[in-house]
Amino acid sequence: MNVPARAREVRLVARPGDRLGLEHFTTAEVDVPEPDEGQFLVRNDWMVLSIVMRSLMDAEVHPDLPMSGYRLNEAPWAPAIGTVVRSRAREFAVGDVVSHTRGFREYVLGQAEDWEFSKLDTTRVPGPEYYLNQGVTAWRGMVTVADVGEGDTVFVSGATTAVGSLAGQIARCRGAKRVIGSTGDPAKIGYLVGELGFDAAFDYHDGPVLDRLIELAPDGLDVVFDNVAGEQFEAALQAAAPNARFALCGALSGRSPVLDLDPVVLKDLTIRGFTTPYEPADVAEWTEHYTRWLAEGRFVFPHTVVEGGAGAVPQAMLDVVAGRFRGTVLVRLS
Ligand SMILES: NC(=O)c1ccc[n+]([C@@H]2O[C@H](COP(=O)([O-])OP(=O)(O)OC[C@H]3O[C@@H](n4cnc5c(N)ncnc54)[C@H](OP(=O)(O)O)[C@@H]3O)[C@@H](O)[C@H]2O)c1
Repeated sequence: MNVPARAREVRLVARPGDRLGLEHFTTAEVDVPEPDEGQFLVRNDWMVLSIVMRSLMDAEVHPDLPMSGYRLNEAPWAPAIGTVVRSRAREFAVGDVVSHTRGFREYVLGQAEDWEFSKLDTTRVPGPEYYLNQGVTAWRGMVTVADVGEGDTVFVSGATTAVGSLAGQIARCRGAKRVIGSTGDPAKIGYLVGELGFDAAFDYHDGPVLDRLIELAPDGLDVVFDNVAGEQFEAALQAAAPNARFALCGALSGRSPVLDLDPVVLKDLTIRGFTTPYEPADVAEWTEHYTRWLAEGRFVFPHTVVEGGAGAVPQAMLDVVAGRFRGTVLVRLS
């Protein structure tokens, strides 16, 4: 395979503070490394951008997040998928497709014993990029934590996010009676209902969230998958049915909710937060269901593709923060 001598990487060069701008990034040209014995060279084909990366840009160590923040003057980490183009490692052959976390650059050197690099079976999905989904998190919240099942009325806040757009579909595939989603953009309501199979969706700016939930789920919510916190969590507590289960995934609103204990106690609610340690058993269970549901035509991978290679990454990150995309945001790097 043809490999250039030089390639691009995108570096974070300043902390954004209150506002992220293009000036916080630089695109640098670097030498493409030659693999030593036991190493292989990967051409990155796809990388993910997500809103949590905005927080990772604020500091190297982030006390509120279970992952490391970004260092200045380096290409940050990000989930990515690429193709092995040169190899001096027995375990990896030219043409293998691998996943790893060294996005923000066009080429990366892999080490055979580095657990971060795993080979992917691309025959199981329509394209390798289908592996860059946040399904393990959605599965953990919907299934392991909330045990969603037949007859449940489900509310997913932040339903067009990478995680939420999968969580709603998981609920539907597991037999939920009704799946409701919220978004901050009225243009995305039709997407949730028309393309992702939600039964109803609403814009959370459109009046009190509690009014929308009572209107759309008059018999109450059995499962709540919360990506947003703040008012949406507070409203879901009031709109919950007896014995409802809450999976607390994230806090996109940036606002800690006020916990009203009356509904929690009187309705016997179960409220559990979770992180996603990517246990191999969880990954295998999710992948098995995901690939089968995709093949059966019961599931889609909600994603937006940004073209333009590494040079498009800074503007695309600004667009992620502005909420311009739907589902997982993928930048095509090659
Ligand atoms: N617990 C875990 O293990 C785990 C793992 C990964 C992610 N998470 C959490 O899951 C959530 C979704 O993450 P993601 O990576 O899927 O997100 P993402 O796809 O990057 O989300 C981007 C979308 O978030 C929505 N959004 C932005 N600001 C918002 C605000 N202030 N209030 C409400 N919605 C807002 C916008 O959608 P609309 O235009 O539709 O509003 C925007 O398009 C986050 O809370 C994240 O922290 C948790």
